[in-house]
Amino acid sequence: MSDSYTVGDERENEQDGAAADRADGRNVSTPDPVDETTGETTPSIQHIADADTVIEAADLTVHYGDVEALKPVNVRLPAQEVTAIIGPSGCGKSTFLRCINRMNDMVDAARVGGELRFRGKNVYDEDVDPVALRRKIGMVFQKPNPFPKSIYDNVAYGLEIQGYDGDMDARVEEALRGAALWDEVKDQLDESGLDLSGGQQQRLCIARAIAPDPEVILMDEPASALDPVATAKVEDLIDELAEEYTVVIVTHNMQQAARISDKTAVFLTGGQLVEFGETNRIFENPENQRVEDYITGKFG
Ligand SMILES: Nc1ncnc2c1ncn2[C@@H]1O[C@H](COP(=O)(O)OP(=O)(O)OP(=O)(O)O)[C@@H](O)[C@H]1O
Ligand SMILES: [Mg+2]
Repeated sequence: MSDSYTVGDERENEQDGAAADRADGRNVSTPDPVDETTGETTPSIQHIADADTVIEAADLTVHYGDVEALKPVNVRLPAQEVTAIIGPSGCGKSTFLRCINRMNDMVDAARVGGELRFRGKNVYDEDVDPVALRRKIGMVFQKPNPFPKSIYDNVAYGLEIQGYDGDMDARVEEALRGAALWDEVKDQLDESGLDLSGGQQQRLCIARAIAPDPEVILMDEPASALDPVATAKVEDLIDELAEEYTVVIVTHNMQQAARISDKTAVFLTGGQLVEFGETNRIFENPENQRVEDYITGKFG
């Protein structure tokens, strides 16, 4: 797999130099590459100058067999902020998200190129243990998927396999409080997680993801299967989580993206990251015409 990596030290330096070139960090010395199918330029690097970068994609690509699902993605996601990923169905949102904690490893056909760096380290390096990585970068899926275990055990599970030998009760309570679920379940911790409502199950899954004390939480349409009340709870929770964690959330709901995120990444058909920046700016004044058309509902 490492054969497909193209990033070397030289390019590293070039990028660092480029970051200082312009306020928005784009490389001015090298022209942005032009996409062959759309004729658009893909920014070679998009840098948040004053924020602490946690996740960085460098020429990250994904193919499923012969199908190109992600064109080279270059982006830096800042710490303790919410980044929303939006775009039409099939544009590669989930594929990108799954690269961040190597969930694409589970997909036989998926082939990843370029680099996905977590705190500067390429997560596809041979010495990275994907299981340990997923404790640092937790994930919450569209459909709540608690284990067929008690509420308590759902939360304790990750800590147990990690060999945690501290105060488990305290950690479980802390995670359930962190997921805004404690008050609703504190008297039924021995009951099955599957007996909770859909919205509660999703918060249980969030508690399970935060129990091992991750840095990043990935969410793939976490509220799309929930009713409006449960959705509002999860949205409030995401806002709170961002005080402690870096949150990357895929959503089809543009109002939701506008409400909850600090930064927005817009992927469009063809697996291309077309625009990335402050959420307010993307929604009020997108640079790219296709992004404007998508956001204003002209297609998608
Ligand atoms: N396991 C797979 N095998 C083959 N092709 C896949 C696989 N998973 C996704 N793809 C293809 O890769 C492309 C991107 O899919 P992805 O699921 O990342 O899109 P998405 O933006 O998350 O879409 P949606 O909004 O519908 O969830 C699509 O063309 C899809 O058909
Ligand atoms: Mg998806």
